[in-house]
Amino acid sequence: MSPEALLERARAARGSAYAPYSQFAVGAAVETIDGDVVVGCNVENASYGLSICAERAALVHAIALGHRSFRAIAIAGPNGAAAAPCGACRQFIVEFGEGITVIYVGAAGPIQTSAGELLPHAFGPHSLA
Ligand code: THU
Repeated sequence: MSPEALLERARAARGSAYAPYSQFAVGAAVETIDGDVVVGCNVENASYGLSICAERAALVHAIALGHRSFRAIAIAGPNGAAAAPCGACRQFIVEFGEGITVIYVGAAGPIQTSAGELLPHAFGPHSLA
Protein backbone atom coordinates (compact mmCIF):
# COMPACT_ATOMS: atom_id res chain seq x y z
CA MET A 1 0.00 0.00 0.00
CA SER A 2 1.30 3.47 -0.79
CA PRO A 3 2.39 5.73 2.07
CA GLU A 4 -0.35 8.19 1.16
CA ALA A 5 -3.03 5.46 1.19
CA LEU A 6 -1.89 4.28 4.64
CA LEU A 7 -1.89 7.88 5.85
CA GLU A 8 -5.44 8.21 4.58
CA ARG A 9 -6.47 5.21 6.69
CA ALA A 10 -4.83 6.90 9.70
CA ARG A 11 -6.74 10.12 8.97
CA ALA A 12 -10.00 8.18 8.83
CA ALA A 13 -9.22 6.53 12.20
CA ARG A 14 -9.09 9.99 13.81
CA GLY A 15 -12.86 9.89 13.68
CA SER A 16 -12.89 7.29 16.46
CA ALA A 17 -10.50 9.17 18.76
CA TYR A 18 -11.62 9.73 22.34
CA ALA A 19 -9.85 12.98 23.15
CA PRO A 20 -12.20 15.14 25.25
CA TYR A 21 -9.35 16.67 27.26
CA SER A 22 -6.83 17.66 24.59
CA GLN A 23 -9.21 17.86 21.62
CA PHE A 24 -6.20 16.53 19.70
CA ALA A 25 -7.58 13.58 17.75
CA VAL A 26 -4.92 11.21 16.42
CA GLY A 27 -5.35 8.21 14.16
CA ALA A 28 -2.87 5.49 13.25
CA ALA A 29 -2.90 2.70 10.69
CA VAL A 30 -0.57 -0.29 10.77
CA GLU A 31 0.13 -2.31 7.65
CA THR A 32 0.92 -5.93 8.45
CA ILE A 33 3.34 -8.08 6.51
CA ASP A 34 0.32 -9.73 4.85
CA GLY A 35 -0.98 -6.36 3.66
CA ASP A 36 -3.80 -6.10 6.20
CA VAL A 37 -4.43 -2.69 7.72
CA VAL A 38 -5.33 -2.32 11.41
CA VAL A 39 -6.21 1.06 12.87
CA GLY A 40 -6.04 2.75 16.24
CA CYS A 41 -6.83 6.10 17.80
CA ASN A 42 -5.88 7.93 20.96
CA VAL A 43 -7.99 7.14 24.01
CA GLU A 44 -7.73 9.67 26.83
CA ASN A 45 -8.70 9.34 30.46
CA ALA A 46 -9.82 11.70 33.24
CA SER A 47 -6.63 10.55 34.94
CA TYR A 48 -4.66 12.21 32.14
CA GLY A 49 -1.50 10.15 32.44
CA LEU A 50 -3.37 6.99 31.52
CA SER A 51 -4.14 8.27 28.03
CA ILE A 52 -3.08 5.96 25.23
CA CYS A 53 -1.66 7.20 21.94
CA ALA A 54 -3.08 6.16 18.58
CA GLU A 55 0.11 4.33 17.56
CA ARG A 56 0.11 2.07 20.59
CA ALA A 57 -3.64 1.51 20.28
CA ALA A 58 -3.19 0.41 16.65
CA LEU A 59 -0.36 -1.97 17.49
CA VAL A 60 -2.22 -3.46 20.46
CA HIS A 61 -5.28 -3.88 18.24
CA ALA A 62 -3.18 -5.63 15.59
CA ILE A 63 -1.47 -7.92 18.10
CA ALA A 64 -4.83 -8.85 19.60
CA LEU A 65 -5.99 -9.84 16.12
CA GLY A 66 -3.03 -12.22 15.90
CA HIS A 67 -0.62 -10.17 13.80
CA ARG A 68 3.08 -10.15 14.73
CA SER A 69 4.95 -8.69 11.73
CA PHE A 70 4.50 -5.20 10.40
CA ARG A 71 5.57 -3.32 7.33
CA ALA A 72 4.58 0.23 8.15
CA ILE A 73 2.66 2.54 10.45
CA ALA A 74 1.12 5.89 9.53
CA ILE A 75 0.07 8.56 12.02
CA ALA A 76 -2.26 11.50 11.45
CA GLY A 77 -3.07 14.35 13.83
CA PRO A 78 -5.41 17.29 13.34
CA ASN A 79 -5.17 19.00 9.96
CA GLY A 80 -2.16 21.24 9.83
CA ALA A 81 -0.67 19.95 13.08
CA ALA A 82 2.59 18.05 12.98
CA ALA A 83 2.19 14.72 14.77
CA ALA A 84 5.46 12.87 15.14
CA PRO A 85 5.25 9.74 17.29
CA CYS A 86 6.05 10.40 20.95
CA GLY A 87 9.00 8.72 22.63
CA ALA A 88 6.91 6.00 24.26
CA CYS A 89 5.37 5.12 20.90
CA ARG A 90 8.80 5.01 19.24
CA GLN A 91 9.85 2.43 21.82
CA PHE A 92 6.62 0.51 21.27
CA ILE A 93 7.05 0.45 17.49
CA VAL A 94 10.72 -0.54 17.57
CA GLU A 95 9.78 -3.62 19.62
CA PHE A 96 8.40 -5.07 16.38
CA GLY A 97 11.31 -4.10 14.16
CA GLU A 98 13.69 -1.25 13.49
CA GLY A 99 12.89 -1.63 9.81
CA ILE A 100 9.21 -0.72 10.14
CA THR A 101 8.43 2.27 7.94
CA VAL A 102 6.93 5.20 9.86
CA ILE A 103 4.90 7.80 8.01
CA TYR A 104 3.66 10.94 9.73
CA VAL A 105 2.87 14.51 8.89
CA GLY A 106 5.65 16.88 9.82
CA ALA A 107 5.64 20.66 9.77
CA ALA A 108 6.44 20.69 6.04
CA GLY A 109 4.31 17.73 4.97
CA PRO A 110 4.46 13.93 5.07
CA ILE A 111 7.67 12.34 6.31
CA GLN A 112 8.71 8.76 5.68
CA THR A 113 11.33 7.29 7.97
CA SER A 114 11.87 4.09 9.97
CA ALA A 115 11.41 2.99 13.56
CA GLY A 116 15.18 2.59 13.95
CA GLU A 117 15.87 6.07 12.64
CA LEU A 118 13.32 7.56 15.05
CA LEU A 119 14.85 5.72 18.01
CA PRO A 120 18.53 5.01 17.48
CA HIS A 121 20.43 2.82 19.95
CA ALA A 122 17.12 1.46 21.18
CA PHE A 123 16.60 -1.04 23.94
CA GLY A 124 14.81 -3.92 22.26
CA PRO A 125 14.20 -7.66 22.25
CA HIS A 126 17.84 -8.20 21.21
CA SER A 127 18.99 -6.45 24.40
CA LEU A 128 17.53 -9.28 26.50
CA ALA A 129 19.09 -12.10 24.45
N1 THU B 1 -0.91 11.50 20.92
C1 THU B 1 -0.95 10.41 20.12
O1 THU B 1 -1.99 9.75 20.00
N2 THU B 1 0.19 10.05 19.46
C2 THU B 1 1.38 10.71 19.57
O2 THU B 1 2.39 10.24 19.08
C3 THU B 1 1.43 11.99 20.27
C4 THU B 1 0.27 12.31 21.13
C5 THU B 1 -2.12 11.88 21.66
C6 THU B 1 -2.01 11.70 23.16
C7 THU B 1 -3.05 12.67 23.65
O3 THU B 1 -4.32 12.02 23.66
C8 THU B 1 -3.08 13.76 22.60
O4 THU B 1 -2.41 13.24 21.46
C9 THU B 1 -2.39 15.05 23.03
O5 THU B 1 -1.12 14.81 23.50
